[in-house]
Amino acid sequence: MKVLGIESSCDETGVALVQAQGSEVPRLLAHALHSQAAMHRDYGGVVPELASRDHVRRVLPLAQRVLDEARCALPEVDAVAYTRGPGLAGALLVGAASAVAMAAALGKPCLPVHHLEGHLLSPFLSVDPPCFPFVALLVSGGHTQLMQVREVGDYTLLGETVDDAAGEAFDKTAKLLGLGYPGGPALAALAERGRADAFALPRPLLHSGDLDFSFAGLKTAVWLQHRKLGSTPTDRQRADLAAATQAAIVDVLVSKSTKAMSDTGLGRLVVAGGVGANRSLRERLDAAAQRRGYRVHYPEAALCTDNGAMIALAAAMRLQRGAQAPRGHAFDVAPRWPLDQLSAPGAAIVS
Ligand code: KG4
Ligand code: ZN
Repeated sequence: MKVLGIESSCDETGVALVQAQGSEVPRLLAHALHSQAAMHRDYGGVVPELASRDHVRRVLPLAQRVLDEARCALPEVDAVAYTRGPGLAGALLVGAASAVAMAAALGKPCLPVHHLEGHLLSPFLSVDPPCFPFVALLVSGGHTQLMQVREVGDYTLLGETVDDAAGEAFDKTAKLLGLGYPGGPALAALAERGRADAFALPRPLLHSGDLDFSFAGLKTAVWLQHRKLGSTPTDRQRADLAAATQAAIVDVLVSKSTKAMSDTGLGRLVVAGGVGANRSLRERLDAAAQRRGYRVHYPEAALCTDNGAMIALAAAMRLQRGAQAPRGHAFDVAPRWPLDQLSAPGAAIVS
């Protein structure tokens, strides 16, 4: 069974083809990605209308490239999947319309996939895939969540941010330091040259006793600290502030993940979403895992941020487990897709 996946929730158009055989973990045959980062950079963030229009331009050529690379003719595709939400409404519509049209033309099933479900299953495409059950730390630009994952579609939310996401804290600090958009990787690079203990920054909710996060107060503390440095902070001061901010975010993520592991008694942690690419976070989680005796699984670096492979994979894993997908016309774009349905045990994501 071959599943074509389309991701278009924000500023990346991703298309991929996976193959599923029996109950084996699906295999990635080909994937292609176009990042709009250069287009949005001048505006300091994503411009939704520009994003939608660019998805329109990219999606079919990328699909063709993926099929060519996999040496697969379009009629050999058995199902088409797309990101249903959350994301920018116009951007989602492009992926959904393309997927639904393709599936309708082929007379094949069409599956909407929750973006975060794609992220949390993405480590299954790595060379060291996890097995169920596990705890997932989802750290993207818009979400910070800890999830207990029993099986595909069986998710319980353990905790989440009450305000900003970890990725947002990276991005906003990067903007403050004049690092532009997208900020996370740039802030992480600057932090490599700084001293994390140069500034004392808060670790919000570190000892709250639950698995919730909060990063809005940290953002304010960074802003106040930055203001104290005056209008022309030195390169050294900027690097130190980047390192201190990264350390504060990573401390909280590692501490809460470790608590989730001991609360659930599970032995595997899966880290997914863009911030999961952060080197410091990975080093600290690996060290904590070694000390506490659990294993950590990450997606391949190229599949950490948004991509079509995770959408194709999630759909293929659902179909392997007998999900029924309507043929061709399941046109239900849902930025309104409620997260509680994702976290409800046994929730049926295929509509
Ligand atoms: O999962 P993702 O690609 O998109 C969303 O679903 O939001 O995550 C994007 C987020 C952005 O906030 C970006 O700055 C952050 O991931 N990010 C990083 C790194 N790479 C991407 N944050 C810290 N360190 C990185 N290396
Ligand atoms: Zn994402």
